[in-house]
Amino acid sequence: TGYITLDSGYMNTGSCNSQITFLDGEKGILNYRGYEIETLAENCSFVEVAYLLLIGELPTQKQLNDFRELLSRYALIHEDMIHFFDHFPPNAPPMAILSNMVNTLQNYYPEMTSESEEELPEIAARILSKIRTIAAFSYKKSVGHPLVYPRYDLSYCGNFLNMMFDKPVKPYVVHPEVVATLNKLLILHADHEQNCSTSTVRLVGSAGVNLYTSISAGISALWGPLHGGANQAVVEMLMAIHRDNNDFEKYIKKAKDPNDPFRLTGFGHRVYKTFDPRATIIKRACAKTLKALNVDDPLLDIAMELEDIARNDDYFISRNLYPNVDFYSGIIYRAMGIPTNMFTVMFAMGRLPGWISHWREMMLDTKNLRIGRPRQVYDGPKQRDFIPLHERV
Ligand code: CMC
Repeated sequence: TGYITLDSGYMNTGSCNSQITFLDGEKGILNYRGYEIETLAENCSFVEVAYLLLIGELPTQKQLNDFRELLSRYALIHEDMIHFFDHFPPNAPPMAILSNMVNTLQNYYPEMTSESEEELPEIAARILSKIRTIAAFSYKKSVGHPLVYPRYDLSYCGNFLNMMFDKPVKPYVVHPEVVATLNKLLILHADHEQNCSTSTVRLVGSAGVNLYTSISAGISALWGPLHGGANQAVVEMLMAIHRDNNDFEKYIKKAKDPNDPFRLTGFGHRVYKTFDPRATIIKRACAKTLKALNVDDPLLDIAMELEDIARNDDYFISRNLYPNVDFYSGIIYRAMGIPTNMFTVMFAMGRLPGWISHWREMMLDTKNLRIGRPRQVYDGPKQRDFIPLHERV
C-alpha cells in the first residue's frame, strides 16, 4: 500500500543526516568535519585525521599523544588468531582474509564495541591498530615469510610498512618519503560520506549487529571493482595496455561500446561531475613519490596518456567522466612495493575511521535509529491459483 518511489542505485535518496563529511560533486569539494581535504592531506598525519573524523575536532598534542599510545597498546592480535591464517589457501585474496579476520575479532574482543563517548578513542584505536596488523600479517602469510610484530617506537604508518617489509635477512629501513605518502593516501581514503561500503556498514549495523561484523560487511562491499577494488583493476588495465604495446585506441573503443561491459576503470564517479579532488592530490603525489624513490614506472606514462585521451574525447566529456581516487593510487602503491592484490586492503585501512564514525553517529542518533529497510516496486506475477504437483504440466 502507499506510493513507493523507485530510486535504483539510490541516485537521489538521502539515507541519514550526517555531520562527518561534506561533498559537493559539481564543484569538486570534499571536507572532513569542515576542513578541506587539500589542507588535511598537506598538513596532517593519518592518525590526526582519524581522530578528527571520530571525535569531531582536531586533536591537541596531548590528545594525539594519548591516541597514539592507544594505537601502540592495542597493536597485537590474540596469538590464537594467528592460526587462522594457516588455513586460508596460499593464494587467497587478502580482501577475503581481511573480512573474515575482522569478523573473527568479535569473538576475541566482544567488549570492544560500544557507543559510549569515553570509550570511543579506545575502541577506535583497537580496531585501527588490529586491522593494520591483520593486513600486514595476511601479506606475510601469503608470501610464506615469518610474521613481523608491531613495534612501540614506530608511527602508525611506519609500523605497517615495517610489518610488511621487514625480513630477518634484510631489515627494513623505514623511508620518510614512503611514510609521508602513505599518510596522505590513507587520509584521502578516510571518509566519503554515503558510499557503497559506508552505507553497508550503516545498514548492517542498523540491524543491531556489532561493529566488527558491520565493518567486515563494509570490507566485502569495498572489494567490488566498481568501488575500492577499482585501484587494483586500474593497474591491471594499465598492465594490459602495456602488454598490448600501448594500443590506447582499442581500450577507449571498448570503454565507449555500449555492448561491451568493459569500462575505463578509475574514471567516473556517482557524485563527482568534475575532477575528484582526491585524484588531483594523488596525481601530484604520484609523480613526486616515484621521483623520490627513483622509480621509473611505464604505467605512470600510460595512465597520463590515457587520461589525456579520455579527457579530450566527447564520450567522456559529455558524461562528465574524470579520473577518480583510484586512477593514480595503484601506481604509488606499486612504487612503495605493495603487491597489487593488497591495494584494496590499503583502501580499507584508510576507510576505517569513516566506517567507525558513521556507525557511531548512527547509533547515537537514537531519535532516528531504526533498521534500514528499503521498499521495492513489485512487478512480478499477480496473485494466481495454486496447481497441485501432480496436475502441473
Ligand atoms: N568508462 C566508460 N563509460 C563509463 C564509465 C567508465 N569508467 N563510467 C561511467 N560510464 C558511462 C556509462 O556507461 C553511462 O553511459 P550511458 O549514459 O551511455 O549509458 C554513463 O557513463 C553514466 O554511468 P553510470 O554507470 O550510470 O554511472 P554510475 O554513477 O552508476 O557509476 C561508477 C559510477 C563509478 C560505478 C562508474 O563511473 C564506473 O563504473 N567507473 C569505473 C569503476 C571505478 O573507477 N570505480 C571507482 C569509483 S571511485 C572510488 C570508490 O567509489 O571506491
